[in-house]
This record gives sequence, structure tokens and C-alpha cells, in this order.
Amino acid sequence: MIQISRDIFKAKQILENENLVAIPTETVYGLAGNIYSEKAINKIFKTKNRPFNNPLIVHLHSKELLENIAQEIPEKAKKLADAFWPGSLTLVLKKKESIPYSVTAGKETVAVRIPNHSLTLELLKQLDFPLAAPSANPFGSISPTTSQHVADYFTDSLELVLDGGNCENGIESTIVGFENEKAILYRLGSISVEDIESIIGPIEIINKNDNSPNAPGMLSRHYAPKTKTILSENIEDEIKNYPTSKVGILSFKELNLNNVNIETEILSSNGTLKEATANLYAAMHRLDKKGLDLIIAEKFPENDLGKSINDRLERATKK
Ligand code: TXA
Ligand code: MG
Repeated sequence: MIQISRDIFKAKQILENENLVAIPTETVYGLAGNIYSEKAINKIFKTKNRPFNNPLIVHLHSKELLENIAQEIPEKAKKLADAFWPGSLTLVLKKKESIPYSVTAGKETVAVRIPNHSLTLELLKQLDFPLAAPSANPFGSISPTTSQHVADYFTDSLELVLDGGNCENGIESTIVGFENEKAILYRLGSISVEDIESIIGPIEIINKNDNSPNAPGMLSRHYAPKTKTILSENIEDEIKNYPTSKVGILSFKELNLNNVNIETEILSSNGTLKEATANLYAAMHRLDKKGLDLIIAEKFPENDLGKSINDRLERATKK
């Protein structure tokens, strides 16, 4: 039976025994193991039912450790790390020989970040190895933003969730890689394109709906509720098409709906994209548990974090 606790010492012991612990980060909870343990890395893939060609992100507590992980650090990568670490930016860099191919799925590059969560930073400091951690959900399903989400997914297949409360940002990190010196954004995430560009100038966004992605977070159906979910530009009109269904609504701001039987999740009470992002996955988890026929999600404005939210909603609603 899985345990939810703040016991860093216990987490350390489990990880040192080459087993897994779910850890809190400011984006989503991660399913963590020692990057140098083949046993732990295999367990991560097995527990998540994740395809082996989908590489993992390495988590560090300090920038100085980057030289053990990556061979070369482009100038733009340094600027981004200075601006956003600890935080929700993942850099894809040329890997050091010592980084196992099981972590990078056979690639010569490695994804790495410093998460911004005090409990996990403290744990990382106490360990003498970095942690590989994909989001702590079965492959393809909604990422967890509370310790209870993780416990619901892995009741019998995981020993411990380190409880760090609700994830502050609520969606995964933004992933940036480099081809020669050119920066490329592989996954939209918690840090907006605008914020990245304010540090290094215009960036190319690759593979929005590509099927041969560099970042399989970009695979078409992903972040998906079990309930059928559709995306709509106008919820008030859309809902008229389903007069006899049990419908749930996922909307940015308050709507004027007079049908009281509708389950509604309003993502932001103060109308900010930041708050809506933080609430997105928890609201999807709640609606998914209500036995609805259909979830209708509202399309967000295509700027700042709205772009990242739309990306997740598009993947959640793909067939
Ligand atoms: O916010 C986050 O990034 C969370 C927390 C736990 O840190 N982690 C997370 O991991 O979202 P995961 O495994 O769900 O997504 C990792 C993404 C995948 O889409 C993977 O393809 C991409 O990172 N990735 C990892 N290594 C890569 C590489 N060498 N080149 C390109 N993409 C890579
Ligand atoms: Mg994931």
C-alpha cells in the first residue's frame, strides 16, 4: 500500500535501494529513481507502462552538477539556466558518456532541469546521485498535481509519495534544445514562449502536432481523461448539442449557463492564465471521476500560458 508522507529520510533510503519514490515539483509530481541504476530506470518504465523510446528528464539541485551530465553548454542554454533555474525549464544538451542510454532512450542528448520545490531540492542534496523523473502517471493519462493523484494511480505499485502539497505551476516544464547554436522549443509548458524569447530572442517551435516527435510528450493523444472530451470555442453554443447527456464543463472564466445540472470547473477565479494553468490537471482529474458522458473544454486565448494550456487540451481531446 502506498504511503503519503514528508519523510525525506525514508525517501532517501528507498532511492538508495534502487527503488522509486514519487516526488513533488513545482510543475507536476515525478516518478523518481537513481539515474545510474539500471534497475531503478527499468522500474520507472515498467511502472508507468512507458515506451522505452521515450527519454527521461534528469533532476539536479545545483547548476554546478551540470558538468557531470552535459558535455557542452551553448551560450543560450547558460542564459536560460541563469534566468529560470531552479524552475520549470528543461534543457536538452549533449550528454556526458557516463549518462546511461536507458535514461536518454539511446540518444546522445540528455534532458535536465533543476526543479523549484524545497522538499525535492533538499532530497536531491542528500543523495549522491541525480534523479530521473517522468511525470508520475501511467503513460498517456493526466499528469498528477497532488500527492493523492499519484496515490490513486499507483496504490499497489509504489511505496512512497513524498508529499509536497499542490504543484504550484500545474503543467510540465518547457523543453528547449539546441541544433548547432540554434534554440528549439520541443514542448510548450509552464514557462511561456514569450518569457523564453525575452531571454534569447525568437525561438522555433517544433512538432506541435507532429507524429515523429523529438519529445514524445508531443505524441498526439496524451494528458487524456478517460471520459470523452471535446474542445470548443463557444461552450454556450456547444452544450446545446447535448441536451440529454451528462456533461462537464472546463472553462477559463465564469460562464452564464442556466442549466444547474451541469458540472462546471472554472479554472480561474481572477481571470489569469497563471491560475488557470495551476488548476488545469486537478480540474480534469475531478471531472473524470464524475461518471460523465462528455467533458467540454473551452479553447484558451493563443498567447502566453494560453498556448501551453491549448496544447494540453488539444492532446487530451485527440482521438
Ligand atoms: O515538469 C516536468 O518536466 C516533469 C517533472 C516531473 O519534472 N517531468 C516530465 O517528464 O514531464 P515526462 O517524462 O513526462 O516528459 C519528459 C519529456 C518527454 O516528452 C521526453 O520525450 C522529453 O522530455 N525528453 C527527454 N529527453 C529528451 C531528449 N534527449 N531529447 C528530446 N526530448 C527529450
Ligand atoms: Mg509525462
